[in-house]
Formats: sequence, structure tokens, C-alpha cells
Amino acid sequence: MANWFEIPPGDPYFCVVGSPIAHSKSPDIHLAFGRQCGIALRYERIEVHARCFARALAEFVDAGGRGMSITVPLKEEAFRALSIHQPRAALTGAANMMTVAADGSTVADNADGTGLVRDLTDNHGLYLKGRRLLLLGAGGAARGVIPALLEEQPSELFIANRTLRKATDLVAQFHTLGPIGAFDYVDVPSRPYDLVINATSLSLSGEIPPLSADTIGSETCCYDMMYTADGHTRFLDWCRDNGAAACYDGLGMLVEQAANSFSIWHGVAPDTAPVIAALR
Ligand code: ATR
Repeated sequence: MANWFEIPPGDPYFCVVGSPIAHSKSPDIHLAFGRQCGIALRYERIEVHARCFARALAEFVDAGGRGMSITVPLKEEAFRALSIHQPRAALTGAANMMTVAADGSTVADNADGTGLVRDLTDNHGLYLKGRRLLLLGAGGAARGVIPALLEEQPSELFIANRTLRKATDLVAQFHTLGPIGAFDYVDVPSRPYDLVINATSLSLSGEIPPLSADTIGSETCCYDMMYTADGHTRFLDWCRDNGAAACYDGLGMLVEQAANSFSIWHGVAPDTAPVIAALR
């Protein structure tokens, strides 16, 4: 059986778990926050495959670990394995972070939606109240951000997905939180939206969703939850080519969700701007 955690005595120990994990920027981000705030900590990448989270978690708690960031493909599995669920995790059925409480219980939380909304509003100056939002995709990434987007009180949040049933399931789950609708790509009401967010996995393979260009206008902002070194993704390039007002990749969301986790773990809110700039 694999041994994930043998933690020698030292500074408080944190990690990010997922698979693949070698590319994760989370250690750089958390260690940069620690240096900025004068907080000593250890933070490592640990490869944990699907269906192994519960065993890794037990070992982590036994070894004295303090908190974990949780990434693909473990967010739903982690939610089920953790003992206490904060409302943000309970709403989305997924955990992107956990904290070991003083009594050894494990607390699931989900900072992804907060990370996205803070990046949109604080970093990019967007105002979402009363705006028309179009979310592309209905998988785990989309589900994780819907409650936080609806909390901003948009006039509508439309979900477009290849498999309509998955989008209508999200509408059934979240309709009490705000005005939300489901469409397949050909039926998306074709007029410019204020904000179009790509939460599909297509950017990973350099593809774009089959969206009508009529949804992009000269006032439309576009966001890709994936990030790249130079901020360009195939989806954002397509949006630019179709006249979008502004295009943002998901690097800021990654740093903002990490900042939210950091403030829960350490009780201090770090300044995200220099960390985003350094990662670029
Ligand atoms: P994640 O956890 O990253 O959201 P996921 O749950 O597998 O991953 O969801 C992937 C999303 O990308 C889904 O919305 C998926 O559409 P389906 O629900 O129809 O599968 C979308 N996606 C993936 N490949 C796609 C493709 N070739 N065309 C359109 N949408 C695609």
C-alpha cells in the first residue's frame, strides 16, 4: 500500500492532492503567501489517484497534516470522505479544500466559486448584479461556481452544454438560488451576453465549444477557467476574433481560491496581486 504522508516534525504541513499533480502551482502560491505574511509553513504536491482519497486522508490526519487543497479528479470523492461540510461545499457536492480541526475532524469547503467571483469583481472590476451571464459546460467545474455566481444577483445565468440533461439537472438543483436556465449550444438565445464563462474541459485539448458568435458583442467580457502562461487560450482567442470587449484566463481564479484557503488556514488574508503578477 502506498505511503503518502510521512511528515517529519517542523512547520505546519499542507499539501495539494490530485492526479496529475506535477503541474500544480498551488505550492508556489501558498509559499509566496506565507513569505508575504511572515507565516512559516510547508506545502507539497502529492499525487493521489481516484478512489484513493479516503486512505490518503486518514494517513494525512494521522501524520499531523493541517490542511489540503483538493483538485481534479478528487473533489467529489473528497466531499464524500470528509466528516463536516461547510455550506459552500454542501451546495456544490464538492470540496476543493479541507481543514483538520483541533478535534481531528475533517472539514470540507469549496473556495472555487469565491475565487472566480473575486477574480471577476476585485481583479477585473466587473459588476455582476443585473448582468446576463452565460456559463459554458455543466460538469464539476461549472457546478462548483454556480452558487457564487447567483449570489452576485445576475439578471440571468444561462448554462449551455453539449449534454442538455446535465445542464437541466443543474437548473433543478440551483433554481432556488436565482434565475438560471439550461440550453444546448444550438438553442442558446443568440444575443450578446455581458459575461461568457468557459467551464468546459475543451481548452485542455485546444478546442472550443460550438457556441454561436452572436453571443459575443462589443460589450461582452469573456473568461476561461483554464489558464496559460501568456493568458491566451483557444476559446479566448476565438472571443477576441469575434469582438469581445475583454478576455481573461483563470489564473486569477486559481490564486484567489488559494488566498481564500490561506485565510481560513492561517487567519490572514494575503495580497493576491503580486502573486498573480509573479506567476505571469
Ligand atoms: P470538469 O470537472 O472539468 O467540469 P467534467 O465534469 O468531465 O469535467 O465536465 C466537462 C465539461 O466539458 C462538460 O460540460 C462536457 O460536456 P458534456 O456534459 O456534454 O460531456 C464539456 N465537454 C467536454 N468535451 C466536450 C466536447 N467535445 N464538446 C462540448 N462539450 C464538451
